[in-house]
Amino acid sequence: MVSRVLIQIFVLFLACSSTSSSSTHLCPSDQRASLLEFKNTISFNDYCMQFTAQQTNSWNETTDCCSWEGVSCDKLTGLVIAIDLSRGCLQGSLHANSTLFQLRQLQQLNFAYNDFNGSIPSPLFNHLVSLTYLNLSSSGFSGLIPHEISLLSSLVLLDLSYSSLTFDATGFDRLSRNLTKLRNLVLEYTDMSGVSVASFSNLSSSMETLSLGTCQLHGEFPSEVFSLPYLKHVELAWNENLTGYLPKTNLSPSLVSLDLYYCRFKGSIPSSFGNLTQIALLDFTQNDFQGEIPEFLKTWTN
Ligand SMILES: *[C@@H]1O[C@H](CO)[C@@H](O)[C@H](O)[C@H]1NC(C)=O
Ligand SMILES: *[C@@H]1O[C@H](CO)[C@@H](O)[C@H](O)[C@H]1NC(C)=O
Ligand SMILES: *[C@@H]1O[C@H](CO)[C@@H](O)[C@H](O)[C@H]1NC(C)=O
Ligand SMILES: *[C@@H]1O[C@H](CO)[C@@H](O)[C@H](O)[C@H]1NC(C)=O
Ligand SMILES: *[C@@H]1O[C@H](CO)[C@@H](O)[C@H](O)[C@H]1NC(C)=O
Ligand SMILES: *[C@@H]1O[C@H](CO)[C@@H](O)[C@H](O)[C@H]1NC(C)=O
Ligand SMILES: *[C@@H]1O[C@H](CO)[C@@H](O)[C@H](O)[C@H]1NC(C)=O
Ligand SMILES: *[C@@H]1O[C@H](CO)[C@@H](O)[C@H](O)[C@H]1NC(C)=O
Repeated sequence: MVSRVLIQIFVLFLACSSTSSSSTHLCPSDQRASLLEFKNTISFNDYCMQFTAQQTNSWNETTDCCSWEGVSCDKLTGLVIAIDLSRGCLQGSLHANSTLFQLRQLQQLNFAYNDFNGSIPSPLFNHLVSLTYLNLSSSGFSGLIPHEISLLSSLVLLDLSYSSLTFDATGFDRLSRNLTKLRNLVLEYTDMSGVSVASFSNLSSSMETLSLGTCQLHGEFPSEVFSLPYLKHVELAWNENLTGYLPKTNLSPSLVSLDLYYCRFKGSIPSSFGNLTQIALLDFTQNDFQGEIPEFLKTWTN
C-alpha cells in the first residue's frame, strides 16, 4: 500500500516536472496495448452478456490498465501479473498469435467458465512460463493438451476440469516430472484414457489436492501417492477401470478426504486410517475391497 502511494506520487512528480507529455499509467504502455489488442481479437457471446457484467468493459485507452477489472499488476513494477476473466462471456478461438502471450510476467490466468472454441494454443505454455496459477475449468477448450504444458514448472495450481481436453501419455508424464511445485491438480472430466497411471508416482511431493474423478483412468494406481506428506484431498471417483491398493502404513497424515467411489481398488482397508486426525470423508463404495471392516470405521458413525 505504502509503496503504491509512493509510486503514484513519484509518477505524478515525473508528470509535473517533465516537459514532454508523460502519462500517469502504472501499467507499461506495451502491456496495455497487448491487452487491448487481445480484447479486440476475441469474441464475446451476446446472449451471455445480457446476464453478466463484462469485466472488459472497463478496458480502455484512457485508463491505467492496472485499474481495469480482472487485471492485477505488480505493485512495484506495474507489470501485469494476473488476469481473471472467469465467467467473461468469451467465445471463439484463442489464436497462437494472441498478444496475450506477450505478457511474459503473468503469474495467474483464470479463463474458467467461458466458451472458447478449439484447442489450447501451445504459445500459452511456451511464453507464459511464470504462471503459478492456471484455471481453464469449463472454458470450452478441447483436443489434445500440448506437451509444452510441462514448461510451466512454477505452477502451483492447475485446473483443466470440465472440458473436452485430452492428455496423452507423454504430455502427462512430462507434466508429472517437471511441475515440481504443484499443490493443486484438478482434472475432473478430462480424458486421461491414454495416460499411464504409473506417471502419478512422479508427482510433486508438495501435492495437496488431486481431483481426478471421471477421467477414464485405468490400470493400477501407484499406492505411494497416498503417502505424499501434504496430501489432503484425493478424488478418484468414477474411474471404473482403475485398480490399486491402499498402503498399509505411511498414509499421508494430512488426509482430509478420500473418494474412491466406483473404482476397482482391492485388498484391505488399512487400520492406519484410524490414526488420521483430519479425516472427514471416506467413500469406498463400489470397490473390490476385502476382509474385515476396521474398528475405526465401525465406531466412525458420524
Ligand atoms: C474508460 O473507463 C473508465 C472506467 O470504467 C470510464 O470512466 C471512462 O468513461 C471510459 N472511457 C471511455 C473513453 O470509454
Ligand atoms: C467453433 O469451431 C467450429 C469448427 O471449427 C466452427 O464451425 C464454429 O463456427 C466455431 N464457433 C465459434 C463461436 O467460433
Ligand atoms: C492470427 O492468427 C489468425 C488465425 O491463424 C489469423 O486469422 C490472424 O490474421 C492472425 N493475426 C495476426 C495479427 O497475424
Ligand atoms: C477455477 O475458477 C473457478 C471460477 O473462478 C472457481 O470456481 C474454481 O474453484 C477455480 N478452481 C480452483 C481449483 O480453484
Ligand atoms: C522442465 O522445466 C524447465 C524449467 O524449469 C525447462 O527448462 C524444461 O525444458 C522442462 N522440461 C520439460 C520436459 O518440459
Ligand atoms: C518417475 O517414476 C519412475 C517410476 O516410479 C521412476 O523410475 C523414475 O525415477 C521417476 N522419475 C523422476 C524424475 O522422479
Ligand atoms: C472400462 O473397460 C471396459 C472394458 O474394456 C470398457 O468397455 C469401458 O469403456 C471402460 N470404461 C472406462 C470409463 O474407461
Ligand atoms: C497408530 O498410532 C499409534 C500411536 O502413534 C501407533 O502405535 C500405531 O502403530 C499406529 N497404527 C497404525 C496402524 O499405523
